[in-house]
Amino acid sequence: MLCGGLAVLAAVSGRAIAQVEDHGYSAADIQAGFKIYSAQCQLCHGPNGDQIAGINLSRQRFKRVVSDDDIKATVSSGIVSAGMPAFRFQPAELNSIVAFIRSGFDTSGTPFKLGDAARGKAVFEGKGGCTACHAPQGEGRFNAPSLSAVGAARQPVEIQRYILEPNKAMLPLNRPVSITLKDGRTLKGRRLNEDSYSVQLRDETLRLHSIAKADIKSYELGKTSNMPSYAGKLSDTELADLLGYLTSLKGS
Ligand code: HEC
Ligand code: HEC
Repeated sequence: MLCGGLAVLAAVSGRAIAQVEDHGYSAADIQAGFKIYSAQCQLCHGPNGDQIAGINLSRQRFKRVVSDDDIKATVSSGIVSAGMPAFRFQPAELNSIVAFIRSGFDTSGTPFKLGDAARGKAVFEGKGGCTACHAPQGEGRFNAPSLSAVGAARQPVEIQRYILEPNKAMLPLNRPVSITLKDGRTLKGRRLNEDSYSVQLRDETLRLHSIAKADIKSYELGKTSNMPSYAGKLSDTELADLLGYLTSLKGS
């Protein structure tokens, strides 16, 4: 049984690279997949896809599955020995399930395309100029965060939104802040953490500060990101490839 499964996977992953390239997931597919998932899969896998040990469907953490075709094959054949039944779905339904899983369970159903990761890396380092701010490890220029695990932390749609509309995508916690202290000094940077008594921020020279709230006179949250928007600056293929690359970065 196990040997058979591995042989199938080896055969499928041989095709995986060509197949993953330029794979688009439409809004209609993602939403149809959400319906099927809620009705047929959620009972075992849970609303966030993390209810079965060692597997997290919304974060693309699998035991054996690699490609979209692997997911379809798993659903169609089931993993009967482990307690997952076989399902009989039409090809369009299988596409929907895959789209929903690949979207990271994004119920907004925003369409996206995952292109070729190797070409995406070239866009990241070349035309995109992303490395000007995003260092491979650690914090980069303008306080830009490392993206070395962005594929594990964020859904593809969130990453896409960051590239196209950084002002909308910014997390409230990560907004640029400007803090005026009671002693008259002003600190500007990116907020890393905040609790009832203190705020931690990294200033523009990348120095860390922990400031007691009792010492703060005023506190202003920036509304604009230091990240430029790439809307209209990249072709659809470049954007898809970039997304394919960033979603593949899962840390070590
Ligand atoms: C009756 C419970 C049950 C239902 C219903 C179910 N699954 Fe599973 N599924 C499992 C179990 C158990 C495993 C883990 C098998 C293992 O440990 O190898 C699994 C594993 C998987 C995997 C991961 C394979 C891997 O390589 O890690 C995928 C993908 C998956 N299920 C998708 C689905 C989808 C999509 C549906 C709905 C169409 C679904 N499952 C419905 C129980 C279920
Ligand atoms: C001028 C500097 C700059 C450039 C160039 C830049 N970024 Fe950013 N990026 C930032 C900053 C700063 C943030 C942090 C939050 C903020 O200010 O919005 C960020 C945040 C991000 C995030 C969100 C990370 C997270 O998890 O919080 C992603 C994804 C991202 N950038 C991708 C890219 C990509 C892809 C490119 C190239 C196409 C790029 N960035 C180019 C400055 C930059």
